[in-house]
Amino acid sequence: MTNFSFSKLEDRENTMSAKWDKKSDIFGNENILPMWVADSDWQTAPSVKKALQKRAEAGIFGYSFADQSIYEAVENWLKRRFDLEIERDWLLFDTGVVPAINFTLKAITRENDAVIIQPPVYRPFFGAVKNNNCHLIKNQLLKEDNHYRMDLNSLKRDIERAEDKGQKVRAMILCSPHNPVGRVWQQEELVELLRLLKNKGIYLLSDEIHSDLIYPEYQHTPVLKLLLKQEEFNDYRQKVVSFMAASKTFNIAGLHTSYTIIESEKIRRQYQKAKDGFGTGNSPFGLLALRAAYNEGEDWLEAQMKYLAANYNFLNEFLKNDLPEIKAVASEGTYLVWLDCSGLGFKTDEKLIEFMNKKAEVGLNPGRWFGDAGSMHMRLNLACPRQRLKDGLERIKAAVESYL
Ligand SMILES: Cc1ncc(COP(=O)(O)O)c(C=O)c1O
Repeated sequence: MTNFSFSKLEDRENTMSAKWDKKSDIFGNENILPMWVADSDWQTAPSVKKALQKRAEAGIFGYSFADQSIYEAVENWLKRRFDLEIERDWLLFDTGVVPAINFTLKAITRENDAVIIQPPVYRPFFGAVKNNNCHLIKNQLLKEDNHYRMDLNSLKRDIERAEDKGQKVRAMILCSPHNPVGRVWQQEELVELLRLLKNKGIYLLSDEIHSDLIYPEYQHTPVLKLLLKQEEFNDYRQKVVSFMAASKTFNIAGLHTSYTIIESEKIRRQYQKAKDGFGTGNSPFGLLALRAAYNEGEDWLEAQMKYLAANYNFLNEFLKNDLPEIKAVASEGTYLVWLDCSGLGFKTDEKLIEFMNKKAEVGLNPGRWFGDAGSMHMRLNLACPRQRLKDGLERIKAAVESYL
C-alpha cells in the first residue's frame, strides 16, 4: 500500500477555510486551535488532486452535468462497499446533502406536517424542518453506559401525541451513521425503526454522508440495502430517500457535490420540481473529484481509516490518563467525537463554552448546537495530524489544571 501522509502539519490559514480563517468571528479568539467543522486537516487522495489539476489545466469552466461515467463510479462504489445495487434512474446529483434534504422535505411535506429527528443531531436538520414550515418531533436518543441508542417506545408515543393534535407525521430524518454521537446503527436497530415507520406510513430521509468513515469492528448498512433485501418492505421503499457523498470521506466538502437516491418515480418527479428555479447544477470539479475518489481512492481511504482509528485510541488514552473529567462517548464511526464534559463541573453551557474558547483556546462545537440534548457536551473533530490532536488535548488539560 502506498504511504500517505496524514501527519503532515498543513498550513490552512489564509485559504478562505471556514475552519481556520474564522477564529475571531466564531470563537472570539484568534489563538484557538480549530477542531470543529467536519472537514479534515490533510490533503485529499492523490488521485483526486490529480484529476482536479488536470481539469484546471483545461481552463474552461462552463456549466457541467454528470455523464454516465459519474453514475458508473457511484454504482460501482455502492456495490463494492455495501453490496448495494441500485438502478441508474434512482440516482440524482446535488450540490450537498443539506440542500437535498431541504428539497426532499419541500417535495413531500405540507405546511403543519410533523417531521421526526433524533437529537442530539446535526443542527441543519432542525433548520430544514423549520424552512418547510413543519413541526419538529424531537425523539431524543438515550444515553446508557456512555453509548447512545434509539428510543422507539418514546418515538411511538411522540407520533401518537402529534396525531392527537391533528398533525400529520410525514417524515423522519435519520442520521446514519450518527453525527455527533458516533453510532453506526446495527441492522436490527434499523429494521425495528423501518417497521415502525412503515406501519405509520412515514417517509424516511436517510442521511448517510458519513457511511464510509467506519471504525474496523463496525459495518455501515445503507437502509436501502435492508429494504431491498426484505420483502416486507417492497412497498415501503417508495417512501425512502437516501443521501450520500464523497465529501467527508475524501475531504472535498468545499466542492459541493452529493447524490440522492430515490426509487419512487413519483417522488423523483416531485423532487425535481422542488429544485426548479434554484440553480442547482453541479461544478465540474465536484463531479470529477467524486469519480476519481470512488474509482481510484480506496487505498487512501483504508489508510485514512487506520490513521483515524489510531487518533481515536490516542484520544481515549489521553482522556483516561490525563483528563478524566472529560469522557469520550463510544464512537463507532465518523471522525467526530462527542465529549461528555459534565465532569468539569460547570453550572451552565455558556461557562463551559467560554472555558474552551478563552481558557483552553480550542475551537470545538458546543453540544447545544445539536439541540438541548447536547447540553454539557462538546464535539471534537479528530481528522487532524496526531500532533495537533495532542496539542488540543494538552491545551484543555493545562486549562483544567490552571483554572478548575
Ligand atoms: C450528518 C451530516 N449531513 C450533512 C452534512 C453536510 O452536508 P453537505 O455539505 O453535503 O450539505 C454534514 C456535515 O458535517 C453532516 O455531518
